Amino acid sequence: MELVTLVRLEGVAKHVLLPDDTRLDILRGIDLAVAAGDHVAIVGRSGSGKSTLLNLMGMLDRPSEGAVWFRGEPVRKMRRGRLDRLRGRNVGFVFQQFNLLAGRTALENVEMPLGYATGREFWRRRRTATEMLERVGLGHRIESTPEQMSGGEQQRVAIARALVRRPALILADEPTGALDVETGATVMELLDDIASEADAALVTITHDLHVAARARRHFRLDTGVLTPFDLEGAPTPSAADSSAPELAASVAEPDAEAEASVDRAPRQDEAEPAEVAS
Ligand SMILES: Nc1ncnc2c1ncn2[C@@H]1O[C@H](COP(=O)(O)OP(=O)(O)O)[C@@H](O)[C@H]1O
Ligand SMILES: [Mg+2]
Repeated sequence: MELVTLVRLEGVAKHVLLPDDTRLDILRGIDLAVAAGDHVAIVGRSGSGKSTLLNLMGMLDRPSEGAVWFRGEPVRKMRRGRLDRLRGRNVGFVFQQFNLLAGRTALENVEMPLGYATGREFWRRRRTATEMLERVGLGHRIESTPEQMSGGEQQRVAIARALVRRPALILADEPTGALDVETGATVMELLDDIASEADAALVTITHDLHVAARARRHFRLDTGVLTPFDLEGAPTPSAADSSAPELAASVAEPDAEAEASVDRAPRQDEAEPAEVAS
């Protein structure tokens, strides 16, 4: 049985003109098709174009070259209103920083996407949102605001919000990036389970090898070029673990290093000798 392709990118490139008139190639020659029920992980260094790629898949942005199809229809030809409705109905986004509305309860946050729905979906929105919060294990926290919740809880609210309209495509941009390892694993398991239950496609961008290993297919993005990544290709039985050092090197977070060294620089000025020596 052929899987129904939800979103397809063909020859997609994205470039922008920088203020000094030089061209920055963010993405180059991207071919990717994601089908219903598919779980895809994309790993890559910071600045490799991951978020740009996800925004193109989610029809939030348009490519400079190439084409994006959603359910076989070229996105380029869709009018703005239709595009917005299509996205609202079919795509759920989960972000690293949760992006919840501050000062609003979990219920209000999760209900929000249903405010754009019509008919039964609109009128039932409170009940649907409550059920979704129950599904992510927060039935007892529906009146809590993000400020009153832990990072893991906030991300579960964000997942409930992303999934409350039962989107066919879930796009997660470093969903565990702001969480500790254990909480991240729990959150990913939840995201995986709910996506599978709904037969939704899940595309996850991550630096975390364990998060990537959960997906069915793996890709690596390097300076805007997407290539398949064989997580199981390692020679030993514990494939994910044994390939980890290699993958870790390939997706090492240069921003984090850069930030660390920026952090370090002023500290060195005032550093004690012991710190310099270390
Ligand atoms: N609109 C834009 N204008 C200029 N540069 C951009 C724009 N969008 C993204 N970039 C640059 O493109 C590169 C890739 O960005 P992004 O997709 O956010 O990478 P990632 O999510 O992998 O960290 C970065 O160097 C970023 O600064
Ligand atoms: Mg990003």
